[in-house]
This record gives sequence, C-alpha cells and structure tokens, in this order.
Amino acid sequence: MRLQTVCFVIFVTAVFGADVDNETLVTFPKDFKLGAATASYQIEGGWNEDGKGVNIWDTLTHERSQLVVDKSSGDVADDSYHLYMEDVQLLKNMGAQIYRFSISWARILPEGHDNKVNQAGIDYYNKLIDALLDNEIEPMVTMYHWDLPQTLQDLGGWPNRELAKYSENYARVLFKNFGDRVKLWLTFNEPLTFMDAYASETGMAPSIDTPGIGDYLAAHTVILAHANIYRMYEREFKADQQGEVGIALNIHWCEPVTNSTEDVEACERYQQFNLGIYAHPIFSEEGDYPSVLKARVDANSAAENYTTSRLPKFTPDEVDFIRGTHDFLGLNFYTAVTGAGGVEGEPPSRYRDAGAIISQDPDWPESASSWLRVVPWGFRKELNWIANEYGNPPIFITENGFSDYGGLNDTDRVLYYTEHLKEMLKAIHIDEVNVVGYTAWSLVDNFEWLRGYTERFGIHEVNFNDPSRPRVPKESAKVLTEIFKTRRIPERFLD
Ligand SMILES: *[C@@H]1O[C@H](CO)[C@@H](O)[C@H](O)[C@H]1NC(C)=O
Ligand SMILES: *[C@@H]1O[C@H](CO)[C@@H](O)[C@H](O)[C@H]1NC(C)=O
Ligand SMILES: *[C@@H]1O[C@H](CO)[C@@H](O)[C@H](O)[C@H]1NC(C)=O
Ligand SMILES: *[C@@H]1O[C@H](CO)[C@@H](O)[C@H](O)[C@H]1NC(C)=O
Repeated sequence: MRLQTVCFVIFVTAVFGADVDNETLVTFPKDFKLGAATASYQIEGGWNEDGKGVNIWDTLTHERSQLVVDKSSGDVADDSYHLYMEDVQLLKNMGAQIYRFSISWARILPEGHDNKVNQAGIDYYNKLIDALLDNEIEPMVTMYHWDLPQTLQDLGGWPNRELAKYSENYARVLFKNFGDRVKLWLTFNEPLTFMDAYASETGMAPSIDTPGIGDYLAAHTVILAHANIYRMYEREFKADQQGEVGIALNIHWCEPVTNSTEDVEACERYQQFNLGIYAHPIFSEEGDYPSVLKARVDANSAAENYTTSRLPKFTPDEVDFIRGTHDFLGLNFYTAVTGAGGVEGEPPSRYRDAGAIISQDPDWPESASSWLRVVPWGFRKELNWIANEYGNPPIFITENGFSDYGGLNDTDRVLYYTEHLKEMLKAIHIDEVNVVGYTAWSLVDNFEWLRGYTERFGIHEVNFNDPSRPRVPKESAKVLTEIFKTRRIPERFLD
C-alpha cells in the first residue's frame, strides 16, 4: 500500500473506529453480562423485622413524610424481604445472568457499628445469594445504596470523616459472610446523589441544608471510605476470594448549547464537578480531585471570605492510597443535559462553583421524572468521554432505565432500552469502549425515594395495594427477555 493509502486507512479507523459488520454491531460480546438491578430500601420492606435497625430513610418517611410526594414509605415496598424467591424467579424467567441488589447496612449492623451483627440479616442475604446461585444468576452486591443507619447519621452522617473507618468495618462483615460466593462488589451507589442530601433541607435523606460545604465533606469521606474498603479487601480477602471491587457513579451527558469555547468548557467542567469529583481521585493516572474543581472551589471560597477552602484536601499519601482503587467502574446512565458557560445560584454552592448553566432540550422526549429526558446518543458520548479520560477501564452499566406512570404496555420504555443498548453496542464495537455488563433499572416497580410510588421504573409491574404484591412482566420485560436470550437486538428494533 502507498503511504497515503496507509495514512487514509489509519485516519478512517481513528475517526470512525473499528470496521465492524452490521451483525456484530447489534450483538453482545461473548462474555458480556446482562441482568437487572434493585436497591434494598426501595424493595425490601420488613423495615423493623428480625432485629433490623432504623436507617435515615425510615426516619425521613416516618417523621417528615411531607417530603415524599405521596407521603409513602418503604415500610413494605415490594416486600422482597419475604418475596425474594419471586424476584429470583423473575430473573430466571428472563434469562438474566446477573442480579445487582444492595444490602441494608442496618439489617446487618442494627447500630451501624460492627460490635453487634444481626444474624437474621446475614441469614436473609445468604438465602437470597444461594437462591440466585442455584439458578445460575450471579450476585452483584452494592454495599451502600443510601440507607445509612440512623445511629451514624446521629454522629453527623457522611460529613463525619470517621464514617470512612466505620464503612470499612461494615464492608469487612460483608466480605467475611458473603465473599465466598459474591465476586462483584460496589462500595457505593451514586455518591453524587447522596452528597446532595447535605445540600438542601427538602432533598433526600437526611435532608440537611449545608450546600457547598456539607456536600463536599460528604464526598470526601465517601472517597476515603471507598479506598479503605478496596485496600482492606486487597489485604484481607482478595487472595482467597478473587472478587472485584468497584463503585457505581452516575452522570448525565452534557451537550454544549453552542460550540463556543465557553459552552464547551462549561460542559467539561460539568463532567469534572459531577463525575470527576469521584472518578478522578480513583481512576485517573495522577489521582486527587480534578484541578479545575480545586481551583474553582478554592477561588470562590476566598472570594466569599472563607479563610479555609470549602473543599477539603487529600494529603499526598491519601492521593496515592486512593488512586487505583478500582477493578471496574460502575456507571448509572439515564439522560443528558445542555450546558452553557455562566454562574447561577446563591453562594456557597456546588452548582455555582461548577460555573455551568444546566438545562435540557425541550425537544428531547420526556419521562415521568422531571430530570429524565430520553437522549440515547448521549450514552455513547458519555462512554467515550470516560474511556478517554480514564484510560478505558472496564465499565459495568449498573443502572439505565426509564420512568412512566405505570401500565403493562410500556412502549416508551421498550424504545428507551433498545435505543440505549444500540448506542452502547456502537460504543463497544465501533469506539472500542470496554463495557463489560449491563443491569437494567429496575427489576420491579419500587419506592422511588421522594417521588414515592408515583414514578415507575420497573420492567415488572407491582400492585402496591395488594398485600401479596403480585409481580407482572411488562412489555419491556418481554423484550429484554428476548434480548437476554438471543444476545442481540431483535430485528424489528433496527432501522
Ligand atoms: C446486514 O446487512 C445485510 C446485507 O445488507 C442484510 O441482509 C442484513 O439484514 C443486515 N443485518 C442487520 C442485523 O442489520
Ligand atoms: C458542534 O460541533 C459538533 C461537531 O462538529 C456538531 O456535531 C454539533 O452539532 C455542533 N453543535 C452545535 C450546537 O452547533
Ligand atoms: C468579602 O469581604 C469584602 C471586604 O470586607 C467585601 O467587600 C465583600 O463583599 C465580601 N464578599 C462576600 C461575598 O461577602
Ligand atoms: C401497545 O401500545 C402501542 C402504542 O401505543 C400499540 O400500538 C400496541 O398495539 C399496544 N399493544 C398492546 C398489546 O396493547
């Protein structure tokens, strides 16, 4: 080949990615894992059974029920504490290879600390894990999906740095009891979301109004806690158990409103303030918070007359300790936003620090959730952003899903899943992003936090007025079943 031709081929490959045939493009790679996800407080119920302690969502729903749109709670929810075998059966029916669920900290350690372990809680998760394995479904466990024991909130919750140690002690109990069978672990789910619980008195539990300060303190503790857990697993368990530990981070794709430098940089800052705040210390080569985050929070803090920056800092030893504490990156992806340069919000605030005006394009299709519009191409762009930024680590899609107001013929959800899976497959096959698995959110309709039971994310319908909580497959469950079993996108969804 002439040099020019060689250059052209390299150019085409670089711009358009690997050359793949159309059949490969709609097919899941051989080792790719497919399944569904849930979280303890959203499905379990059994809130005060068999020795479980009180957590911050029990407290919020019981004492400040006005914060929940339908004043409901997770006291019973899907009653999965009793009906877990039905959940396992749904997964089996679908041909799911993997089930992502979370463990309720207060069910295992009723007082938050590891001095008292609740055997009934251990028994419950043992039964669930064994039932999954009996049905050839791999368990993937989230250690923390927002239900902090109330006793630890009474000590200040995540802004209290001691929780980094208490989390490690909790994790050790989980590895000891379940690590012989559980090989995929997520330390935290969406710290970006629960840091905001310290930024507003009407936000998620514990709903504390310390924006621009408490939220950064919470993030700082969570990053240290994640690293403590990862390193402890390395020291005490990994040689025997051979499992993998990651963290589930959430991010919306940010599309600049124009191609001006201001707007492009605003979206870049959005990525760094929302994903980079957690991913950069753990996944980047240099470690620590993104430099743009440190520079802007420090500068704003000074301008606002704080002597000390509102952003706590890692010591050089901590930077080294945290960097590289990952076997894979869990990604929760739902939607996209538009970003423009500019500052909004009262100081102090994280949004103000980020310096991006965030909105959504009204032409993007809506869901039942105010924040969730359907932007499948944003998924591919986000996957590429992560691969480029962090050296293409293995990415497991730990959540992706769509909300409506209920009903079995959920055609919009079917379209959401097929379009997102197609974009993900382009990222895998064309862009060579290392995506290794996918769990749809969610296996069943459940308690959607401050939206109660008004917004439905399930692929199985649950009647919350019926004490037996019957589960019925929606159209989306049937289509995902077909996808899980054939391991490709069905012909009728290809254009
Ligand atoms: C791939 O292309 C061939 C030939 O154009 C066509 O017959 C086939 O249906 C295509 N398959 C997919 C999955 O698009
Ligand atoms: C910005 O540039 C990209 C790449 O050239 C293009 O796809 C996109 O449509 C442009 N966006 C706007 C708002 O003009
Ligand atoms: C910071 O202090 C200076 C000097 O006292 C004052 O002019 C300025 O308004 C203060 N800034 C804020 C944001 O309060
Ligand atoms: C589901 O809804 C779609 C569009 O609203 C309609 O075309 C289809 O016939 C419905 N299917 C069933 C089984 O009702």
